[in-house]
Amino acid sequence: MKNGLEDVIAAETQLSDVDGEAGRLIIRGVSLDHLVLTQTYESVAALLLDGLTEKHFDGNQLRPKLGQARESVFAHVAAADAALLALPPVDAVRALIARLADGEDFDTALQLMAAPAVFLPAILRLQAGGQALEPDPSLTHSADILRMLTGVRPSAEQVAALDAYLVTISDHGLNASTFASRVIASTRAGLTSSVLAAISALKGPLHGGAPGPVLDMFDEIDCEENAHAWLGNALDRGERLMGFGHRIYRVRDPRADALKGALKPLIATGQVDSRRIALAETVEQAAIAILRERKPDRPLDVNVEFYTALLLDALGFPREAFTGVFAIGRTVGWIAHAREQALNGRLIRPRSVYVGPLPQAA
Ligand code: COA
Repeated sequence: MKNGLEDVIAAETQLSDVDGEAGRLIIRGVSLDHLVLTQTYESVAALLLDGLTEKHFDGNQLRPKLGQARESVFAHVAAADAALLALPPVDAVRALIARLADGEDFDTALQLMAAPAVFLPAILRLQAGGQALEPDPSLTHSADILRMLTGVRPSAEQVAALDAYLVTISDHGLNASTFASRVIASTRAGLTSSVLAAISALKGPLHGGAPGPVLDMFDEIDCEENAHAWLGNALDRGERLMGFGHRIYRVRDPRADALKGALKPLIATGQVDSRRIALAETVEQAAIAILRERKPDRPLDVNVEFYTALLLDALGFPREAFTGVFAIGRTVGWIAHAREQALNGRLIRPRSVYVGPLPQAA
Protein backbone atom coordinates (compact mmCIF):
# COMPACT_ATOMS: atom_id res chain seq x y z
CA MET A 1 0.00 0.00 0.00
CA LYS A 2 1.22 3.52 -0.81
CA ASN A 3 0.17 5.92 1.90
CA GLY A 4 -1.48 8.90 0.21
CA LEU A 5 -1.21 7.00 -3.11
CA GLU A 6 2.19 8.64 -3.55
CA ASP A 7 3.67 7.83 -6.99
CA VAL A 8 0.68 5.65 -7.88
CA ILE A 9 -0.42 6.23 -11.49
CA ALA A 10 -4.21 6.19 -11.56
CA ALA A 11 -5.06 7.78 -14.91
CA GLU A 12 -3.76 8.46 -18.40
CA THR A 13 -4.26 12.06 -19.47
CA GLN A 14 -3.59 14.39 -22.35
CA LEU A 15 -4.45 17.42 -20.24
CA SER A 16 -1.42 18.33 -18.13
CA ASP A 17 1.91 17.03 -16.91
CA VAL A 18 3.64 17.99 -13.67
CA ASP A 19 7.39 17.32 -13.73
CA GLY A 20 8.41 17.58 -10.09
CA GLU A 21 12.15 17.21 -10.66
CA ALA A 22 12.42 19.79 -13.47
CA GLY A 23 9.80 22.14 -11.97
CA ARG A 24 7.81 22.17 -15.19
CA LEU A 25 4.08 22.21 -15.91
CA ILE A 26 2.76 21.40 -19.37
CA ILE A 27 -0.85 22.08 -20.28
CA ARG A 28 -1.95 20.29 -23.44
CA GLY A 29 1.50 20.37 -24.97
CA VAL A 30 2.35 23.94 -23.99
CA SER A 31 4.66 24.94 -21.16
CA LEU A 32 2.95 27.09 -18.52
CA ASP A 33 5.42 29.97 -19.00
CA HIS A 34 4.29 30.22 -22.65
CA LEU A 35 0.64 30.48 -21.62
CA VAL A 36 0.78 32.97 -18.75
CA LEU A 37 0.37 36.62 -19.81
CA THR A 38 0.13 35.58 -23.48
CA GLN A 39 -3.15 33.61 -23.44
CA THR A 40 -6.52 34.55 -22.03
CA TYR A 41 -8.42 32.36 -19.60
CA GLU A 42 -10.95 31.67 -22.38
CA SER A 43 -8.31 30.41 -24.82
CA VAL A 44 -6.73 28.10 -22.23
CA ALA A 45 -10.20 26.84 -21.24
CA ALA A 46 -10.90 26.08 -24.91
CA LEU A 47 -7.53 24.33 -25.17
CA LEU A 48 -8.32 22.13 -22.16
CA LEU A 49 -11.81 21.22 -23.34
CA ASP A 50 -10.85 20.64 -26.98
CA GLY A 51 -12.28 17.32 -28.20
CA LEU A 52 -13.83 16.47 -24.83
CA THR A 53 -17.34 17.86 -25.42
CA GLU A 54 -19.70 17.55 -28.35
CA LYS A 55 -18.82 21.09 -29.57
CA HIS A 56 -15.55 22.52 -30.91
CA PHE A 57 -14.57 26.12 -30.34
CA ASP A 58 -11.62 28.42 -29.74
CA GLY A 59 -11.15 31.05 -27.06
CA ASN A 60 -12.83 33.80 -29.12
CA GLN A 61 -15.90 31.65 -29.67
CA LEU A 62 -15.97 30.55 -26.04
CA ARG A 63 -15.92 34.11 -24.67
CA PRO A 64 -19.51 35.16 -25.62
CA LYS A 65 -20.86 31.71 -24.71
CA LEU A 66 -19.31 32.01 -21.28
CA GLY A 67 -20.77 35.52 -20.97
CA GLN A 68 -24.24 34.15 -21.70
CA ALA A 69 -23.70 31.34 -19.21
CA ARG A 70 -22.74 33.91 -16.53
CA GLU A 71 -26.00 35.73 -17.22
CA SER A 72 -28.00 32.51 -17.05
CA VAL A 73 -26.56 31.22 -13.73
CA PHE A 74 -27.07 34.61 -12.04
CA ALA A 75 -30.73 33.66 -11.43
CA HIS A 76 -29.55 31.17 -8.79
CA VAL A 77 -28.09 33.98 -6.67
CA ALA A 78 -31.67 34.71 -5.57
CA ALA A 79 -31.53 31.42 -3.61
CA ALA A 80 -28.81 32.80 -1.33
CA ASP A 81 -30.75 33.04 1.93
CA ALA A 82 -29.45 33.96 5.39
CA ALA A 83 -28.40 30.38 6.21
CA LEU A 84 -26.39 30.11 2.99
CA LEU A 85 -24.79 33.53 3.52
CA ALA A 86 -23.69 32.50 7.02
CA LEU A 87 -21.39 29.88 5.44
CA PRO A 88 -17.76 30.51 4.46
CA PRO A 89 -17.73 31.78 0.83
CA VAL A 90 -16.46 28.55 -0.72
CA ASP A 91 -19.19 26.54 1.05
CA ALA A 92 -21.84 29.03 -0.06
CA VAL A 93 -20.58 28.77 -3.67
CA ARG A 94 -20.73 24.98 -3.43
CA ALA A 95 -24.28 25.13 -2.10
CA LEU A 96 -25.41 27.27 -5.05
CA ILE A 97 -23.61 25.04 -7.57
CA ALA A 98 -25.54 22.08 -6.10
CA ARG A 99 -28.68 23.71 -7.54
CA LEU A 100 -27.45 23.27 -11.14
CA ALA A 101 -28.70 20.35 -13.19
CA ASP A 102 -26.30 17.44 -13.66
CA GLY A 103 -25.26 16.51 -17.17
CA GLU A 104 -22.26 15.66 -19.31
CA ASP A 105 -22.83 18.04 -22.21
CA PHE A 106 -21.20 21.29 -23.29
CA ASP A 107 -23.98 23.46 -21.83
CA THR A 108 -23.54 21.89 -18.39
CA ALA A 109 -19.79 22.50 -18.68
CA LEU A 110 -20.39 26.18 -19.53
CA GLN A 111 -22.79 26.68 -16.64
CA LEU A 112 -20.30 25.10 -14.25
CA MET A 113 -17.45 27.32 -15.49
CA ALA A 114 -19.66 30.39 -15.14
CA ALA A 115 -21.15 29.44 -11.75
CA PRO A 116 -18.27 30.07 -9.30
CA ALA A 117 -17.26 33.19 -11.27
CA VAL A 118 -20.72 34.68 -10.70
CA PHE A 119 -21.58 33.19 -7.31
CA LEU A 120 -18.39 34.12 -5.46
CA PRO A 121 -18.52 37.92 -6.09
CA ALA A 122 -22.29 37.90 -5.48
CA ILE A 123 -21.93 36.06 -2.15
CA LEU A 124 -19.12 38.36 -1.01
CA ARG A 125 -21.21 41.46 -1.77
CA LEU A 126 -24.30 40.01 -0.09
CA GLN A 127 -22.29 38.95 2.97
CA ALA A 128 -21.00 42.53 3.21
CA GLY A 129 -24.61 43.77 3.22
CA GLY A 130 -24.57 45.00 -0.40
CA GLN A 131 -26.33 43.98 -3.61
CA ALA A 132 -25.14 41.30 -6.02
CA LEU A 133 -24.16 42.76 -9.40
CA GLU A 134 -25.47 41.17 -12.60
CA PRO A 135 -22.88 39.83 -15.04
CA ASP A 136 -21.94 41.82 -18.13
CA PRO A 137 -21.59 39.28 -20.97
CA SER A 138 -19.71 41.77 -23.15
CA LEU A 139 -16.67 41.61 -20.83
CA THR A 140 -14.02 38.92 -20.62
CA HIS A 141 -14.45 36.39 -17.83
CA SER A 142 -11.69 37.98 -15.70
CA ALA A 143 -12.85 41.58 -16.26
CA ASP A 144 -16.42 40.67 -15.35
CA ILE A 145 -15.40 38.80 -12.19
CA LEU A 146 -13.47 41.84 -10.94
CA ARG A 147 -16.29 44.23 -11.88
CA MET A 148 -18.88 42.03 -10.11
CA LEU A 149 -16.57 41.98 -7.07
CA THR A 150 -15.74 45.66 -6.74
CA GLY A 151 -18.50 47.42 -8.71
CA VAL A 152 -15.99 49.31 -10.86
CA ARG A 153 -14.34 48.56 -14.19
CA PRO A 154 -10.94 47.00 -13.37
CA SER A 155 -7.67 48.31 -14.82
CA ALA A 156 -6.01 46.49 -17.74
CA GLU A 157 -3.23 45.35 -15.37
CA GLN A 158 -5.75 43.90 -12.92
CA VAL A 159 -7.57 42.00 -15.66
CA ALA A 160 -4.27 40.65 -17.00
CA ALA A 161 -3.24 39.58 -13.49
CA LEU A 162 -6.47 37.70 -12.82
CA ASP A 163 -6.28 36.11 -16.27
CA ALA A 164 -2.72 34.99 -15.50
CA TYR A 165 -3.89 33.50 -12.21
CA LEU A 166 -6.81 31.61 -13.76
CA VAL A 167 -4.54 30.27 -16.53
CA THR A 168 -1.83 29.27 -14.03
CA ILE A 169 -4.15 27.19 -11.89
CA SER A 170 -6.42 25.85 -14.66
CA ASP A 171 -5.03 22.32 -14.46
CA HIS A 172 -2.34 20.47 -12.56
CA GLY A 173 -2.16 16.72 -13.07
CA LEU A 174 -3.90 14.35 -10.71
CA ASN A 175 -4.11 16.53 -7.61
CA ALA A 176 -6.61 15.63 -4.86
CA SER A 177 -9.55 17.64 -6.21
CA THR A 178 -8.99 16.51 -9.81
CA PHE A 179 -8.78 12.91 -8.67
CA ALA A 180 -12.07 13.41 -6.79
CA SER A 181 -13.61 14.77 -9.99
CA ARG A 182 -12.41 11.73 -11.96
CA VAL A 183 -13.64 9.27 -9.32
CA ILE A 184 -17.12 10.75 -9.56
CA ALA A 185 -16.99 10.83 -13.38
CA SER A 186 -15.94 7.17 -13.41
CA THR A 187 -19.33 6.26 -11.93
CA ARG A 188 -21.02 8.15 -14.82
CA ALA A 189 -22.54 10.71 -12.48
CA GLY A 190 -22.66 14.11 -14.20
CA LEU A 191 -20.24 17.03 -14.35
CA THR A 192 -22.04 18.95 -11.60
CA SER A 193 -21.43 16.05 -9.22
CA SER A 194 -17.77 15.95 -10.24
CA VAL A 195 -17.32 19.68 -9.63
CA LEU A 196 -19.06 19.50 -6.25
CA ALA A 197 -16.76 16.68 -5.12
CA ALA A 198 -13.72 18.53 -6.41
CA ILE A 199 -14.60 21.76 -4.55
CA SER A 200 -15.04 19.73 -1.39
CA ALA A 201 -11.52 18.33 -1.78
CA LEU A 202 -10.08 21.70 -2.74
CA LYS A 203 -11.17 23.57 0.37
CA GLY A 204 -8.85 21.69 2.75
CA PRO A 205 -5.82 23.65 4.00
CA LEU A 206 -3.40 21.10 2.56
CA HIS A 207 -4.79 21.75 -0.95
CA GLY A 208 -6.54 24.97 -2.02
CA GLY A 209 -7.16 26.34 1.45
CA ALA A 210 -3.56 27.46 2.02
CA PRO A 211 -3.39 31.02 0.59
CA GLY A 212 -5.62 32.60 3.26
CA PRO A 213 -3.30 31.31 6.02
CA VAL A 214 -0.31 32.61 3.98
CA LEU A 215 -1.72 36.12 4.33
CA ASP A 216 -2.37 35.52 8.04
CA MET A 217 1.32 34.60 8.31
CA PHE A 218 2.38 37.90 6.67
CA ASP A 219 0.16 39.80 9.08
CA GLU A 220 1.57 38.02 12.10
CA ILE A 221 5.19 38.44 10.97
CA ASP A 222 4.40 42.11 10.27
CA CYS A 223 7.93 43.34 9.48
CA GLU A 224 10.99 41.86 7.82
CA GLU A 225 13.06 41.77 11.03
CA ASN A 226 10.57 39.33 12.62
CA ALA A 227 10.55 36.80 9.78
CA HIS A 228 13.28 34.41 10.85
CA ALA A 229 12.20 34.15 14.50
CA TRP A 230 8.49 33.81 13.62
CA LEU A 231 9.14 30.99 11.14
CA GLY A 232 11.44 29.17 13.57
CA ASN A 233 8.84 29.40 16.34
CA ALA A 234 6.11 28.05 14.04
CA LEU A 235 8.27 25.04 13.16
CA ASP A 236 9.13 24.54 16.85
CA ARG A 237 5.39 24.29 17.54
CA GLY A 238 5.23 21.53 14.89
CA GLU A 239 3.31 23.70 12.42
CA ARG A 240 3.72 23.62 8.65
CA LEU A 241 4.68 26.77 6.82
CA MET A 242 1.79 27.55 4.50
CA GLY A 243 2.81 28.18 0.89
CA PHE A 244 5.77 25.77 1.08
CA GLY A 245 6.19 22.12 0.15
CA HIS A 246 4.49 19.97 -2.44
CA ARG A 247 3.81 16.30 -3.02
CA ILE A 248 5.32 16.31 -6.52
CA TYR A 249 7.67 19.31 -6.80
CA ARG A 250 11.12 18.82 -5.34
CA VAL A 251 12.14 22.23 -6.69
CA ARG A 252 10.34 25.57 -6.97
CA ASP A 253 6.73 25.29 -8.09
CA PRO A 254 6.76 26.87 -11.59
CA ARG A 255 3.36 28.39 -10.86
CA ALA A 256 4.92 30.50 -8.10
CA ASP A 257 7.18 32.20 -10.65
CA ALA A 258 4.32 32.56 -13.13
CA LEU A 259 2.33 34.44 -10.50
CA LYS A 260 5.35 36.45 -9.38
CA GLY A 261 5.66 37.57 -13.02
CA ALA A 262 1.95 38.37 -13.16
CA LEU A 263 2.35 40.66 -10.14
CA LYS A 264 5.06 42.75 -11.82
CA PRO A 265 2.76 45.00 -13.93
CA LEU A 266 0.68 45.68 -10.81
CA ILE A 267 3.81 46.55 -8.85
CA ALA A 268 5.15 48.77 -11.67
CA THR A 269 1.91 50.76 -11.74
CA GLY A 270 1.65 51.10 -7.95
CA GLN A 271 -1.41 48.84 -7.67
CA VAL A 272 0.13 46.64 -4.96
CA ASP A 273 1.35 47.49 -1.46
CA SER A 274 5.13 47.48 -2.05
CA ARG A 275 5.81 46.95 1.68
CA ARG A 276 3.93 43.66 1.57
CA ILE A 277 5.89 42.51 -1.50
CA ALA A 278 9.18 43.28 0.24
CA LEU A 279 8.01 41.40 3.34
CA ALA A 280 6.94 38.41 1.21
CA GLU A 281 10.34 38.24 -0.47
CA THR A 282 12.09 38.23 2.91
CA VAL A 283 9.71 35.59 4.29
CA GLU A 284 10.24 33.40 1.21
CA GLN A 285 14.05 33.49 1.50
CA ALA A 286 13.99 32.98 5.27
CA ALA A 287 11.52 30.07 5.03
CA ILE A 288 13.50 28.28 2.34
CA ALA A 289 16.68 28.61 4.41
CA ILE A 290 15.09 27.47 7.65
CA LEU A 291 13.27 24.53 6.01
CA ARG A 292 16.54 23.42 4.45
CA GLU A 293 18.13 23.51 7.88
CA ARG A 294 15.28 21.76 9.74
CA LYS A 295 14.26 19.23 7.05
CA PRO A 296 17.51 18.44 5.24
CA ASP A 297 16.08 15.21 3.77
CA ARG A 298 13.00 16.77 2.23
CA PRO A 299 13.48 19.52 -0.40
CA LEU A 300 10.82 22.11 0.49
CA ASP A 301 10.41 25.21 -1.64
CA VAL A 302 7.75 27.81 -2.31
CA ASN A 303 4.48 26.61 -3.88
CA VAL A 304 1.69 28.24 -5.87
CA GLU A 305 -0.25 29.36 -2.81
CA PHE A 306 2.42 31.78 -1.61
CA TYR A 307 2.11 34.12 -4.61
CA THR A 308 -1.60 33.39 -4.95
CA ALA A 309 -2.06 35.10 -1.59
CA LEU A 310 -0.21 38.23 -2.73
CA LEU A 311 -1.92 38.40 -6.11
CA LEU A 312 -5.50 37.85 -4.96
CA ASP A 313 -5.01 40.27 -2.08
CA ALA A 314 -3.74 42.88 -4.54
CA LEU A 315 -6.84 42.34 -6.71
CA GLY A 316 -9.16 43.07 -3.79
CA PHE A 317 -10.37 39.57 -2.91
CA PRO A 318 -10.79 39.08 0.84
CA ARG A 319 -8.65 36.22 2.15
CA GLU A 320 -11.66 34.08 3.10
CA ALA A 321 -12.56 34.06 -0.62
CA PHE A 322 -9.20 32.81 -1.95
CA THR A 323 -10.25 29.15 -2.13
CA GLY A 324 -13.35 30.19 -4.06
CA VAL A 325 -11.20 32.06 -6.61
CA PHE A 326 -9.06 28.94 -6.95
CA ALA A 327 -12.28 27.04 -7.75
CA ILE A 328 -13.16 29.59 -10.47
CA GLY A 329 -9.88 28.81 -12.25
CA ARG A 330 -9.71 25.08 -11.64
CA THR A 331 -13.29 24.20 -12.62
CA VAL A 332 -12.36 23.87 -16.29
CA GLY A 333 -9.58 21.42 -15.37
CA TRP A 334 -11.98 19.38 -13.25
CA ILE A 335 -14.47 19.28 -16.13
CA ALA A 336 -11.85 18.32 -18.71
CA HIS A 337 -10.59 15.48 -16.48
CA ALA A 338 -14.14 14.31 -15.75
CA ARG A 339 -14.88 14.18 -19.49
CA GLU A 340 -11.60 12.39 -20.23
CA GLN A 341 -12.39 9.85 -17.51
CA ALA A 342 -15.95 9.31 -18.72
CA LEU A 343 -14.82 8.92 -22.34
CA ASN A 344 -11.75 6.71 -21.82
CA GLY A 345 -11.69 5.36 -18.29
CA ARG A 346 -13.23 2.61 -16.21
CA LEU A 347 -14.99 2.72 -12.85
CA ILE A 348 -12.34 3.72 -10.27
CA ARG A 349 -12.52 1.12 -7.55
CA PRO A 350 -9.27 0.48 -5.64
CA ARG A 351 -8.93 -1.98 -2.77
CA SER A 352 -8.01 -1.57 0.86
CA VAL A 353 -6.00 -3.79 3.18
CA TYR A 354 -8.10 -4.94 6.13
CA VAL A 355 -6.17 -4.48 9.37
CA GLY A 356 -9.11 -4.83 11.79
CA PRO A 357 -9.93 -7.81 14.01
CA LEU A 358 -11.08 -11.08 12.47
CA PRO A 359 -14.33 -12.72 13.62
CA GLN A 360 -13.89 -14.98 16.66
CA ALA A 361 -14.08 -18.66 15.88
CA ALA A 362 -17.43 -20.03 17.21
N1 COA B 1 6.30 23.23 6.42
C1 COA B 1 7.05 22.47 7.24
N2 COA B 1 7.31 21.17 7.03
C2 COA B 1 6.77 20.62 5.94
C3 COA B 1 5.99 21.35 5.04
C4 COA B 1 5.77 22.71 5.31
N3 COA B 1 5.05 23.47 4.49
N4 COA B 1 5.60 20.54 4.03
C5 COA B 1 6.11 19.32 4.31
N5 COA B 1 6.80 19.37 5.45
C6 COA B 1 7.53 18.29 6.08
C7 COA B 1 6.62 17.39 6.89
O1 COA B 1 6.46 17.85 8.20
C8 COA B 1 7.33 16.08 6.81
O2 COA B 1 8.39 16.11 7.72
P1 COA B 1 8.75 14.80 8.60
O3 COA B 1 9.08 13.73 7.60
O4 COA B 1 9.90 15.25 9.44
O5 COA B 1 7.50 14.50 9.38
C9 COA B 1 7.95 16.08 5.41
O6 COA B 1 8.08 17.46 5.06
C10 COA B 1 7.09 15.39 4.38
O7 COA B 1 5.75 15.84 4.52
P2 COA B 1 4.48 15.08 3.91
O8 COA B 1 3.30 15.48 4.70
O9 COA B 1 4.77 13.63 3.75
O10 COA B 1 4.45 15.68 2.47
P3 COA B 1 3.20 15.64 1.52
O11 COA B 1 3.70 15.38 0.16
O12 COA B 1 2.14 14.73 2.02
O13 COA B 1 2.67 17.14 1.69
C11 COA B 1 1.82 19.27 1.33
C12 COA B 1 2.51 18.05 0.68
C13 COA B 1 1.57 20.32 0.26
C14 COA B 1 0.50 18.82 1.94
C15 COA B 1 2.74 19.86 2.43
O14 COA B 1 3.98 20.26 1.87
C16 COA B 1 2.09 20.99 3.21
O15 COA B 1 1.36 20.72 4.16
N6 COA B 1 2.35 22.28 2.82
C17 COA B 1 1.72 23.39 3.48
C18 COA B 1 0.32 23.63 2.94
C19 COA B 1 0.35 24.20 1.53
O16 COA B 1 1.08 25.14 1.24
N7 COA B 1 -0.50 23.62 0.68
C20 COA B 1 -0.64 24.05 -0.69
C21 COA B 1 -0.10 23.02 -1.61
S1 COA B 1 -0.05 23.61 -3.29
